Amino acid sequence: MPTVLITGANRGLGFGFVELFLREGWNVIAVARDPASAPELHALASSNTGKLTIEQCDLANFATIDALGAKLAGKPIDLLLCNGAKTNNPSSTIGDTNYEAWMEAFKVNTMAQMKLAETFVENVAASVQKKMFFLSSRIGANPPAGMILFRSSKSALNQVVMQLSLLLKPRGIAVACAHPGFVKTKSTADMGVFTADESAAHLKKVIDNLTVENAGQFFEPDGSTLPIVTRQTNAHAFGAKAPDAWKEQQKVWDKQGGR
Ligand SMILES: NC(=O)c1ccc[n+]([C@@H]2O[C@H](COP(=O)([O-])OP(=O)(O)OC[C@H]3O[C@@H](n4cnc5c(N)ncnc54)[C@H](OP(=O)(O)O)[C@@H]3O)[C@@H](O)[C@H]2O)c1
Repeated sequence: MPTVLITGANRGLGFGFVELFLREGWNVIAVARDPASAPELHALASSNTGKLTIEQCDLANFATIDALGAKLAGKPIDLLLCNGAKTNNPSSTIGDTNYEAWMEAFKVNTMAQMKLAETFVENVAASVQKKMFFLSSRIGANPPAGMILFRSSKSALNQVVMQLSLLLKPRGIAVACAHPGFVKTKSTADMGVFTADESAAHLKKVIDNLTVENAGQFFEPDGSTLPIVTRQTNAHAFGAKAPDAWKEQQKVWDKQGGR
């Protein structure tokens, strides 16, 4: 059976995913910041011996991601499901931005997600299904105003997902992200529209249908898509045409392995 690694697995949507994948017979690696404070996960593990393992990782501490990577080295992971995120960010208006909290939001919601991809890419490449899926948010792309910290960290995540999908497509790895809907979890004070189980079930269908051909997209829970990043596609826009010398220079950088 396939294996999924799920971050933020101790509660909320992450826990909903753990239950769903177990029901469908997958092997589940449930990653939590503090497994000792995750009694529901331990209860599930005892009734799913050999199918569910619990691992520790603090997404704000990259040494713990490295340690988990070393522990799981050589183990195929069909689906890297990056769900854990810092959702309890202070709201900000003009004049009271909390820059420390913003850096933490970027570290956990954007940079740690890249770090997870880099750490587990060989595990995913060694699997059968070869997928990476990231929980983003509609808020990372749309108005209304407000929630700048969380919004910008998810917006940047969308760009990371787009890059990962382009860079990993040649290796047959499909990468995408999704909005889970408005879900009844701690992060929404249980005011959502979907339960975690319902949202996980919708997203599981999206994940099942993910291929390298439709990768690099931002999915809604019903499988429809939103533009993942704004791209300038008008080659005739004023100043858009790159000089030939620039294209030649880019070829040199490509040969050198990057700029
Ligand atoms: N619920 C919604 O309506 C909604 C809407 C849009 C997007 N999303 C996205 O969907 C995902 C799940 O949302 P949710 O509502 O289930 O969120 P949640 O209830 O706030 O749960 C967040 C999970 O992430 C973990 N986490 C936070 N910081 C961490 C860190 N530094 N290291 C490791 N784990 C950490 C939490 O662990 P602890 O228990 O240790 O804190 C928890 O397991 C998130 O990516 C969220 O942004 C949710």
